[in-house]
Amino acid sequence: AFIVTDNCIRCKYTDCVEVCPVDCFYEGPNFLVINPDECIDCALCEPECPANAIFSEDELPENQEVYVELNKDLADVWPNITEKKDAHPDAATWDGIEDKLEHLER
Ligand code: SF4
Ligand code: F3S
Repeated sequence: AFIVTDNCIRCKYTDCVEVCPVDCFYEGPNFLVINPDECIDCALCEPECPANAIFSEDELPENQEVYVELNKDLADVWPNITEKKDAHPDAATWDGIEDKLEHLER
């Protein structure tokens, strides 16, 4: 599956959801996740993310491993999102800041 990782937190640009052919993105307050059981590995979403936050699980940076479980777990509790909306208000400020996990709202 593809995995949404750290740099999505407090950015949440949502460009990714528009291209997913199986609508497998789920939305929290300041982060999105992909349901790994629904993702068909088409790779369409990866280049759409302005924050470069989406990776194939096979190419996941080592320090992003925690997001594998987070995508799986949060996809079970968060609502589906299929249409782009405004990014997080201070997305540009947070884009590129490392280790935003402490800012993840559930
Ligand atoms: Fe959707 Fe394809 Fe991205 Fe998986 S890889 S989340 S199926 S767009
Ligand atoms: Fe997040 Fe990138 Fe989608 S910032 S909401 S994964 S476009």
